[in-house]
Amino acid sequence: MTKPFEAVRITDRVYWVGAIDWGIREFHGYSTGRGTTYNAYLVLADTPTLIDTVKAPFRNELMSRIASVIDPGDIQTIVSNHSEMDHTGSLPGVIDAVSPERVVASPMGVKTIANHFPGLGIEISEVKDGETLSLGNTALTFYETRMLHWPDSMICHLAEEDVLFSQDAFGMHLASSERFDDELDPAVLGQEAAKYYANILLPFSSLVEKLLARVGELGLPIRLMAPDHGPVWRKDIGGILGSYAAWAAQRPTRKAVVAYDTMWQSTGLMARAIGDGLAAGGASVSLTPLRSNTRSDVATEVLDAGALVVGSPTMNGNLFPTVADLLVYLKGLKPRNLIGAAFGSYGWSGESVGQVAEALCGAGVELVEESVGVRYVPDAEALAGCRALGERVAARLASISGREG
Ligand code: FEO
Repeated sequence: MTKPFEAVRITDRVYWVGAIDWGIREFHGYSTGRGTTYNAYLVLADTPTLIDTVKAPFRNELMSRIASVIDPGDIQTIVSNHSEMDHTGSLPGVIDAVSPERVVASPMGVKTIANHFPGLGIEISEVKDGETLSLGNTALTFYETRMLHWPDSMICHLAEEDVLFSQDAFGMHLASSERFDDELDPAVLGQEAAKYYANILLPFSSLVEKLLARVGELGLPIRLMAPDHGPVWRKDIGGILGSYAAWAAQRPTRKAVVAYDTMWQSTGLMARAIGDGLAAGGASVSLTPLRSNTRSDVATEVLDAGALVVGSPTMNGNLFPTVADLLVYLKGLKPRNLIGAAFGSYGWSGESVGQVAEALCGAGVELVEESVGVRYVPDAEALAGCRALGERVAARLASISGREG
């Protein structure tokens, strides 16, 4: 009988059995304008194996897709590559329904799953870095990827089929009816993969570089790269690996991001003048007013930028709340190789400009200009000063990117 949700075959032995979350627009602070998927994969080996599960509310969708190809009770092994709830939320229910012989995770994953689900009813077995688990007529080999992006994270490679199950790495938040990269618009894939990297993996760029080097050294044959979100890569695996190498390096470019909020358009006017100066100096400019850009939109813009200029009005002796939110978020993402400056308008006390400068330093941004504060409304002279600031930052960018290039 046809099931309400069906599996999608991705190789002779591997089926996608995940769930599509068309409606999600916020993922722990990350704006997900195109929804997402929670990918899980069924390997029809001699030992039928499920790789990862899905977010708790989607368990029935997962079980239905599995049941469209085998009796779920035939699954003998469950692999948990990553314990975050979007991939393990339904694990307890799936274990109850399937009664697998074993559930495997990395050494840290064993601990994390125990922390998440005390009294799970089955002991999680540890698989070590480089260990191979026979599935009868094929085998899975596991590689720890600690802090990409949790301590428990690992990836695994399926022999014979040459599939790399990469958990969050190389994924994106993109709900779609298509399952493969070559069925989707490359521009959308590029945008969403960059947004995912900027908001999830950016703080761990040095580990990404090590992972890419290790994948190269191992020489694993990879016919498909199957992440836990978004499409399976089958056409442009080289392209996404190359993009990760570029994003991890964060080489300075001539792009400048001006992020700001404004109460009565004074800081907004300053931002526009700075943006004009940056453009006149040869920079590619992205103005991101925070009433119409989320923190994760700005982080994505910053990923391939060389400068970040931030403005805030002073409100009750403090930064404007949206700017404070952005600066705390960026500090956690640890962007590299950025120069910047701070600006803003104020009425009487004017603390925000100094606070922006301090927060930018805390986020690792090198301040290359004195902060600019303007009382109440900027006049023509003040705006000319903002424009000149933009031109000077652009000149610094030109010299830095020329040096790097
Ligand atoms: Fe998709 Fe880190 O979970």
